[in-house]
Amino acid sequence: MTVTRPFHMTPKAYLVAERPDDPVLFLSPEILAATARQFIDGFPGLVTYAVKANAAGPVIENLARAGLTAFDVASPAEIALVRSIAPEAALHYNNPVRSRAEIDAAIGMGVTSYSVDDAGEFAKLVEEGVAPGAEMTVRFKLPVAGAAYDFGEKFGATPEAAADLLRAVAKAGYRPSLTFHPGTQCTDPAAWVAYIDASAGIARAAGVTLDRLNVGGGFPSRRMQADTPPLEAIFRAIDGAVARAFGTSRPALICEPGRAMVAEAVSLALRVKALRPGMVYLNDGIYGALAEQPVMGMTDRLGVVAPDGRPRSGAPVPRLIWGPTCDSLDRMPGAVPLPEDMAEGDYVLIHGMGAYSTATVTRFNGYGAMRLATVRSLS
Ligand SMILES: Cc1ncc(COP(=O)(O)O)c(C=O)c1O
Repeated sequence: MTVTRPFHMTPKAYLVAERPDDPVLFLSPEILAATARQFIDGFPGLVTYAVKANAAGPVIENLARAGLTAFDVASPAEIALVRSIAPEAALHYNNPVRSRAEIDAAIGMGVTSYSVDDAGEFAKLVEEGVAPGAEMTVRFKLPVAGAAYDFGEKFGATPEAAADLLRAVAKAGYRPSLTFHPGTQCTDPAAWVAYIDASAGIARAAGVTLDRLNVGGGFPSRRMQADTPPLEAIFRAIDGAVARAFGTSRPALICEPGRAMVAEAVSLALRVKALRPGMVYLNDGIYGALAEQPVMGMTDRLGVVAPDGRPRSGAPVPRLIWGPTCDSLDRMPGAVPLPEDMAEGDYVLIHGMGAYSTATVTRFNGYGAMRLATVRSLS
């Protein structure tokens, strides 16, 4: 991804000046900083950022500038990236399956916090030399609904196995913590409450006082125009549940939002390559920044702009949206209402696109080149 500098005022000003033929992501540092502030002020504990949601250098840089002092990292490459931008930041290596080479790399870069969900993976960390005193955060799972898709199929010990692991971790001299992930785009505060209640039960069963409780990511972003993500209600529910479940042995809390931290700060501009009756062909699709749309449902937060910057305002006509590759999987779900006066060369501006967009772009069919432009305002 090419990062363009300096600042432009708005996406429209950039599109009119540059007429880009590749997709462009527009980043608003102001919105990113405001979202970071909302988490720091509202969440009753340490706020970290899940780098995987968007690992662009300017995103990490702006979050560190906004006051984030800790990051959730999934791989040595993410560790090295954050170290190069925010060398003092605390790093929580919370991908619970790692190769021995990955563990060695993390130790070499000074990581002292790891999640584990299995005795074999804990043994690997010990054998590779993670020193006692480091934090071992046991990850567990519950059959809880409320998210767009569930993460429990892949990672997490059962509560019973988590209690055994927590006991083993504490006995071996590591700082015992617990974590869970309610699943991404989780809109129901009750999911966190169920996990927090279970956390207290696991700590009790293990006979261990928790050092910290990491309540994961999963916080929702505004995917549809009608959405109002209930962040404050989730923060209140977490605070209340921890007070009720842990009483006087309340652990310090951590959260690690990815999606909710970065989604709103980025809009995506795609170019209309061609129009056919009932269909539009764009310069990006499921192998690029729109990869999540077929999984999560097509967002309706979009508008069409002519190359001279005028918004297209014709009556909405439902159209099938195709991406640029040569296969017919590369299409958006459903028929999307788009203005009848849109034309070849126009731009489709899609909002709320900061998370899991650039992060998963492929070069399939030779596409996937993208620019990131920093703007003062997204409107
Ligand atoms: C351990 C961990 N923490 C946090 C996140 C971020 O989740 P979200 O983007 O739903 O907030 C993920 C996502 O995969 C994760 O695996």
